[in-house]
Amino acid sequence: MKDAEQKSLCPEAEKAQLPQKRVQTEKVSAPKFAKSEKTPVEPTDPNAMLEVQHLTKRFGQLVVLDDISEKIVQGEKVAIIGPSGSGKSTFLRCLNVLEDPTDGYVFFEGNNLCDLKVDINIQRRRMGMVFQQFNLFNNMNVLKNITLAPVHVGLQDLRKIKRKNFFTKISNLFRGKNKKRALLPVETTAKEIRENAVNNAMRLLERIGLADKASAYPSTLSGGQRQRIAIVRALAMNPKVMLFDEPTSALDPEMVGEVLELIKELADEGMTMVIVTHEMGFAREVATRVMFMDGGKIVEQGPPSEVFGAPKNERLKDFLSKVL
Ligand SMILES: Nc1ncnc2c1ncn2[C@@H]1O[C@H](COP(=O)(O)OP(=O)(O)OP(=O)(O)O)[C@@H](O)[C@H]1O
Ligand SMILES: [Mg+2]
Repeated sequence: MKDAEQKSLCPEAEKAQLPQKRVQTEKVSAPKFAKSEKTPVEPTDPNAMLEVQHLTKRFGQLVVLDDISEKIVQGEKVAIIGPSGSGKSTFLRCLNVLEDPTDGYVFFEGNNLCDLKVDINIQRRRMGMVFQQFNLFNNMNVLKNITLAPVHVGLQDLRKIKRKNFFTKISNLFRGKNKKRALLPVETTAKEIRENAVNNAMRLLERIGLADKASAYPSTLSGGQRQRIAIVRALAMNPKVMLFDEPTSALDPEMVGEVLELIKELADEGMTMVIVTHEMGFAREVATRVMFMDGGKIVEQGPPSEVFGAPKNERLKDFLSKVL
């Protein structure tokens, strides 16, 4: 927790919330051309919200994700469990391409996120991510933390429209009377974008009972409050899916409940979510499907009653005997 407090800027949060230039840290497969027959470039299920095909991630010689093919449909609440180092976080980070897959594909609503032609920032806007260490910007108050990304994205879109209209106007000067191109409608103003973001943030803060903390700085809040604000910050982008990476494991025990309660509320409202967790009771209660990962593979999965009640895989049995 101390580490997170000391960071003035959080690269993870920055990457998750704000548009980024796509940086390729290593060679990834060229998505337009299938390298082998087993590598499709279309999702197998157009209705899946998230789909991975032959997802593989290697760090040097270390194979962290080993040819995983899986899909997650709207409304599912998937809990990922497994021993430390089994690849859970890497799998989650590959889902929104915070980590570039070494091989394979990730589709979000049918869009291939590994295709360098796909604007990853536009796709990521609809994928909320919450980390273990909150990753709030400690140099900004709570309200600014929540409104930063929506305002940035709103202004960016507005600028794009204005820029397009500017060039259309210029090219229209050289067009005949009946050949002039129509301008794009400008439906909002910078002031409105900021006001809407603030109103939305305040509505979300009221919902979690923290409206009075809008002008407080993260360092003055408890871990539970900070994590709930991190969740609200992700919600402010109106995501279609929420990805949680052990959202309660950095919290003092008495604060775990309030964060799980908020996540459960979101689940009850129908939010699609993937949550890496060590809270087995929570996974059993909230998840519609539990995946057990070991050695970079999903070695068993199913409804919580089966995974916890009648595990088949020996490694899962061993894991459960240690954590339950
Ligand atoms: N950036 C990296 N560079 C090199 N190795 C990495 C990197 N990120 C993860 N790994 C390695 O990949 C493996 C899987 O890591 P990952 O964080 O996905 O595991 P995990 O299942 O989330 O574990 P935990 O429960 O401890 O969080 C580990 O052996 C880890 O050391
Ligand atoms: Mg992890």
